[in-house]
Amino acid sequence: MSNLIRNCWYVAGWSTDFSRTPEQRWLLGEPIVLYRRTDGGIVALEDRCAHRMAPLSAGRVEDDAIRCMYHGLKFGSDGRCMEIPGQELIPDRACVRRYPVVEKNSWVWVWMGDPSLADDSRIANSKALDDPSWILKTGHLDYEANYELINDNLLDLTHLTYVHAGSFGADEAWSRNRPKIETLDNGIRSSRWIINSPPIPPLGKAAQHERVDIWTSFDFIMPGTFLLYTAMYAAGTARLCGEGEPGAEHEILFNNFTSQAVVPLSEQTSRYYFSWGPGAAFGTEADAQIMIDVAKSAFLEDKVMIEAQQRIINANPQVRPMPTSADKAITIFQRMMKAQDVARDAPVFERA
Ligand code: FES
Repeated sequence: MSNLIRNCWYVAGWSTDFSRTPEQRWLLGEPIVLYRRTDGGIVALEDRCAHRMAPLSAGRVEDDAIRCMYHGLKFGSDGRCMEIPGQELIPDRACVRRYPVVEKNSWVWVWMGDPSLADDSRIANSKALDDPSWILKTGHLDYEANYELINDNLLDLTHLTYVHAGSFGADEAWSRNRPKIETLDNGIRSSRWIINSPPIPPLGKAAQHERVDIWTSFDFIMPGTFLLYTAMYAAGTARLCGEGEPGAEHEILFNNFTSQAVVPLSEQTSRYYFSWGPGAAFGTEADAQIMIDVAKSAFLEDKVMIEAQQRIINANPQVRPMPTSADKAITIFQRMMKAQDVARDAPVFERA
């Protein structure tokens, strides 16, 4: 049975990916064509011509409409057919589905479910790439795996010790201590100190310290947005804070932020978008480049593990996982997703 949830906003790409040239994207196994109208707004339509199912993404944008370049049917940005060459009558069923679409913080989000439920206040608060407080670099990676395995990977960072010992240089503390998990309206928050650790990354003023205390806190928002803030302080700061959230009176040596979005392209293929970089007050463009290069090699380590895990699962899908105490965030998040599925996931296919 599919675990893909329709009534959610999904990232279709970076704002810069879309122009007057049509682009094809797949979400939840459906082909979607995206392009910009003359006023710069984004259009997201079913990428399947109503005539004989040719992809509209192979077509031509004309003003705000798109023309299928197989036999020339032209569809408006509302999905309705405006013209059938050589035929006056345009049947009611000559239309394609139109998806609600929103640009927010440098990502383009498409709502895949019931259009009447598309509330853009539910979109995660990621950081825009031009946010002056941060220096952010970007990337993306495609997976041959179900998106929930990538969600699970991000919800439990104990794997840093083992999967990323070489790339991130994470020590044993990442696997041995447990974060505080809080439930949010639309996801979970996981926060903790990594005490007396090598600085990760060893950049900015943190590079002058052999050991630091690292405050790390992430929000994981349904259906798959990971927003991680990390800040390094002189060793001993965690104790001064009573191991709670650090206040402004403590000097930050280096900090960084990453926004990441896990997107199900289909049941067993996923795309992973990410930005990462230092706070503008603590790092430089060169630091940002080092960080994104390290992150890209670390994320390839995740991909190798997760795709191998998917192949093992596929061989015997009835075998169930055996959770440990490190899986608390995964368990809570999966429960929230299941409730979301039941409460909001009416089967909807509404044409324009
Ligand atoms: Fe599009 Fe024929 S398939 S016009």
